[in-house]
Amino acid sequence: MATDRMIAHVVGVEDLTVIRNLETAFEEETKASAAYKAYAAKADEEGYHGIASLFRATLRAEQIHASNHARVLRHMGASTMIDLPVPRVESTLENLNAALVDQKFEVDYLYPAFLISAVPLFDSTAIRSFHWALEADKSHVRLYGELMPLVNSNETSGWAYEPHDFFVCALCGYAAQHCEAENCPACNYLWEKFETVR
Ligand SMILES: [Fe+2]
Ligand SMILES: [Fe+2]
Repeated sequence: MATDRMIAHVVGVEDLTVIRNLETAFEEETKASAAYKAYAAKADEEGYHGIASLFRATLRAEQIHASNHARVLRHMGASTMIDLPVPRVESTLENLNAALVDQKFEVDYLYPAFLISAVPLFDSTAIRSFHWALEADKSHVRLYGELMPLVNSNETSGWAYEPHDFFVCALCGYAAQHCEAENCPACNYLWEKFETVR
C-alpha cells in the first residue's frame, strides 16, 4: 500500500494536503448524510414529518457534496473507501441541534480552511468542490436557523408536523424552502433543474 511519503513524492506535498482534505470532506459529508437519514426516520417515527423533510433535503445535499468530492478524488487517483460508523440517534430535537452544530462546523472551520489550502494550487476542481459545499452548507445553516424556532416540543401541530417540499440544487446542494431566483445563488445552476425533496 502506498504511504503518504510515496504519494507526496509523486504528486507534491501541497497536492497531498488537498487530497487529504478532500478525503476528510468526503468522509464528513458521507457520515452526515447517513446521520440525517437516520434522523429523518426518527423524526417521522415521532410525528415530526416537517423536520423529517428538512433532514431529507439536507441529506440529499450532503450526498451531492460527497459525490462532488469523490469525483475530484478519483480524478487525482485517490481512494474513496471509508468505514461508515452507525449514526448516533437521539430525540428529534437533539438531532436537530446536532445537525446544526455539524453544519456550522463545516461553514465556520472546515471548508474555509480547506479552501485556503487549495487556492495556491490553482486546482479548480478541488476549489470548486470545497466552494460549492461551503456555500450550500451556509444555506443549510440558514434553513435550520429559520425553522428551529418553529419547532416547539409542547405543540402537537404546526410546521414541524406537516411534510414540506424543499428545493435542492443537483449540482452544489444549495437548499431552500421556496424558489429564490432563476439560478442557484451558490453555483448558478438553473433553478428549474433543482430537485424537489419532501
Ligand atoms: Fe455539506
Ligand atoms: Fe447550486
